[in-house]
Amino acid sequence: MMQGMRIVGGTPLNGTVKISGAKNLALPALVATLLTDAKITFSNVPNLSDVNCILSLLESLGSKYENDTKGTITISTPTILSHIAPYDIVRKMRASILVLGPLLARNHAAKVSLPGGCAIGARGVEMHLEALKLMGVDIALNDGYIDASAKKGLFGANIKLPFPTVTGTENVLMAATLAKGKTRIQNAAKEPEISALIDLLTLMGAKIEGKGTSEIIVNGVDSLRGTCFEIMSDRIEAGTYAIAAAITKGKLFLEGARYCDLKIFLDTLQNSGLTVLENENGITIAGRDSIKPCSISTGPYPGFPTDLQAQYTSLMTVANGTSTITENIFENRFMHIPELLRLGANISIHGNTATVNGVKSLKGAQVMATDLRASVSLVLAGLAAQGTTIVNRLYHLDRGYEALETKLKLCGANIERFNI
Ligand code: EPU
Repeated sequence: MMQGMRIVGGTPLNGTVKISGAKNLALPALVATLLTDAKITFSNVPNLSDVNCILSLLESLGSKYENDTKGTITISTPTILSHIAPYDIVRKMRASILVLGPLLARNHAAKVSLPGGCAIGARGVEMHLEALKLMGVDIALNDGYIDASAKKGLFGANIKLPFPTVTGTENVLMAATLAKGKTRIQNAAKEPEISALIDLLTLMGAKIEGKGTSEIIVNGVDSLRGTCFEIMSDRIEAGTYAIAAAITKGKLFLEGARYCDLKIFLDTLQNSGLTVLENENGITIAGRDSIKPCSISTGPYPGFPTDLQAQYTSLMTVANGTSTITENIFENRFMHIPELLRLGANISIHGNTATVNGVKSLKGAQVMATDLRASVSLVLAGLAAQGTTIVNRLYHLDRGYEALETKLKLCGANIERFNI
């Protein structure tokens, strides 16, 4: 059933938001369990449709799991029953490509549908494939599928990624844990989710050096074991609620958020005139009447996260002056902008830079978006707008934001989900 969100804007948000577990760690962490036949128990797993999607993919490959939907998932894959990730699942969630490395490592064969285009750009996977080829994998592309096999198993290799791709680094890292010999990944992504995945793999018995740096060394082992692992808090969800506080001129305590994961983003908010305080178990953000314009440019970690670009653009629409937003990671991640214009924003786009002229206030309207972060940026704009905003196509939000309207309502937002 199609659903929409009705928001009546103008109320400052005040209170505490409990930040959920990180989607972009939960997905690779669940996939990493394919590397062993032992049981792994995760805690703090967010209840999201993307998590359910990866669980059903893993189930089709032979995994068995118990999910209490309160954050604890126990999962094991006694044997790989299928090595195929079908088009119908991969087209819904690009992160399905993450099964490629672990399936090759454990099973020496994998057939994964090519992800194809998605709303935020072409997003190829050739860097994943070139790296795996260096590890001894034969790859053929047939009927829209990546047909990969490593008859003699995987071998350690020297890999220099052309770009620090996040899921590409994760795929190679997982594959390398069970490869024969040493793998060196240069220009590896350094996102906090990669460091956390290294922690998980290390608990499972993998031998990895270079956590948090752009050069990761993996010494392959014969087998991995079970463990228990807590999913860290979602830095992008935390950043999204930080903007909710700023754009409504309220004050929120983001329980569980980690300052170190969001440094450049929080520095930018401070430069915009907001108060940001690091507390023992979270971060406090306090808005103010006048928001200073502050230009940003997205980049790989530790740069400004592309996953917070749309939300930050919403904030700049009501800043006191002009700012520029440059998107360097994805070629087509400005789809929220035409929708923000419907709410009265003043923005022009030239190539990968958007120039935002702040307006006094936004006005409610009907809007819709084609990806997760763009959708939430419209919710944020709606919280600040005068009157009623309706955000359509809610399924994008449910992919990555646990209990969004419940969390916002607890802080005073006037927001309601409805069936269309
Ligand atoms: N790229 C290629 N070829 C490749 C790999 C990447 O051209 O082989 C390009 C992509 O097209 C893109 C850029 O490199 O333009 C960066 O892509 P990256 O591979 O780093 O992104 P990803 O691994 O597909 C993850 C997150 C995204 C997040 C990006 C960037 C997960 C499951 N997904 O995607 O999260 O935006 O890193 O930080 O970790 C989201 O949560 O909303 C989301 C899209």
